[in-house]
Amino acid sequence: MVLLGSVSANDPAAVEKADKAAKKEIHFENSLVYGSQFAAEELPRLEMAEESMPSETAYQLVHDELETDGLTSLNLASFVTTYMEPNAEKLMMESMAKNIIDAEEYPASQDISNRCVNMIARLFHAPVNNPNDETLGVSTIGSSEAIILATLAMKRKWQAARKAAGKPHHQPNIVMNSAVQVCWEKAARYLDIEEKYVYCTMDRYVIDPKQAMELCDENTIGVVGILGTTYALNDGLDALEKEKGLDIKIHVDAASGGFVAPFVKPELVWDFRLPRVVSINTSGHKYGMTYAGVGWALWRSKDYLPEELIFHVAYLGADQASFTLNFSKSATQVIGQYYVLIRNGKSGFRAIMQSITETSDWLAAELESTGRFVRMNPGGGESLPLVAFRLKEKHHYDEFAIAARLRSRNWIIPAYKMAPNAGELKLLRIVCRMDFSRSRAAALVRDIEQVCQFLDSQDKETIDALMADHKKGKQTHVKARKGVHMKDNHSLQGKHGKTHAVC
Ligand SMILES: Cc1ncc(COP(=O)(O)O)c(C=O)c1O
Repeated sequence: MVLLGSVSANDPAAVEKADKAAKKEIHFENSLVYGSQFAAEELPRLEMAEESMPSETAYQLVHDELETDGLTSLNLASFVTTYMEPNAEKLMMESMAKNIIDAEEYPASQDISNRCVNMIARLFHAPVNNPNDETLGVSTIGSSEAIILATLAMKRKWQAARKAAGKPHHQPNIVMNSAVQVCWEKAARYLDIEEKYVYCTMDRYVIDPKQAMELCDENTIGVVGILGTTYALNDGLDALEKEKGLDIKIHVDAASGGFVAPFVKPELVWDFRLPRVVSINTSGHKYGMTYAGVGWALWRSKDYLPEELIFHVAYLGADQASFTLNFSKSATQVIGQYYVLIRNGKSGFRAIMQSITETSDWLAAELESTGRFVRMNPGGGESLPLVAFRLKEKHHYDEFAIAARLRSRNWIIPAYKMAPNAGELKLLRIVCRMDFSRSRAAALVRDIEQVCQFLDSQDKETIDALMADHKKGKQTHVKARKGVHMKDNHSLQGKHGKTHAVC
């Protein structure tokens, strides 16, 4: 420790040198996080520092920096789980260091993954009673990976059939709604598949089955359905086969709805009960109530997952069949998912999904009762537990101004424009997750009303200035993302914002 430092002569270089030396000397002797030089300097950004940092200090300073992120529980933009029970977290921490691909070392983790596949397949009514139909499934990082894998399987299946029939097999296309999540655009482009869109209109935000049929041809590898529209697509494709001899199958994107519909609308027939549904994806980290990093892809039978895509590798002495984009990954999310499945059971899932569905309906009714807003998605379990809504009348402020003001109260609620062709419509969307209780919803209603009253009391010039200020703040915060995504014109999402579906 330096008790008495010598005062250097007025030589900037020497001062700097002495400063550095002084800092170095106190470096490891001062155990106080905020008394150390690390707290007085910016954390390394571009180059790793030469010196090590005490663990407590590294923890505290990174922790502090992360506090400038939004509050996860008030992030109502996202479906992704923000609460798990302490015991789930404990189990997940315990399995963090396990690489689930190491089947021989971690057979229990692998077995647990298979149990999850089995339970989810049964939830989606996989044909488990028919020994000829071997349903297959795999854990993924999320629905995006699951969708890329499922699209690849559809493409290969189509190509094999075309080759066998001696027909051209180089121009595959896929038919989907223009409000699909960006991962569908990725899947199509990464895999060289033409995207054929059924566009939304000002009063229809989901796929129109009739238009979807019109887009189908002999090069169509599949049609993408979401839960509510799958039945009509199945019937439409049956009629198409009768009329034109085209046998086209369906993949269901159940990213968010896969763990909701079976408990809130069990009578809705959207899954493997429909003969044309050959594969389904779901995100365990959405209403599967597990922290981010887990999804599931399921195939009705091995007929729809071409053998050539399955890799068999001898790894650490065991034969491993795999169909994933990556190799190593932690077991932690799969273990977390299993905990959620066995801990909640069907009755637990039913209670939670019904409760948040009721909360979303209550919230929508409260918002509509202000006379300011119109709900855009159906309630009563006909859509996901969320509220998509817009201003009833034209004002000197819009939905984006409301979202911006709410942000200053810590609520993260996105405003966005609808998909192409319905792009004039602006809306706000509140996702109700498990930890969005009725009291929290009531607090939000109060804040929305106060925000609207504030905006009512301001003139347009002031609101424009506030919005410009808000945008500036946002730009410095998300600089990197802006350049990459928002300016891209080759993507539906890039042209129209983060998302443009109502659910
Ligand atoms: C309908 C839909 N499909 C796919 C995805 C991608 O899911 P993930 O984030 O699990 O990759 C999302 C994500 O929001 C989604 O809403």
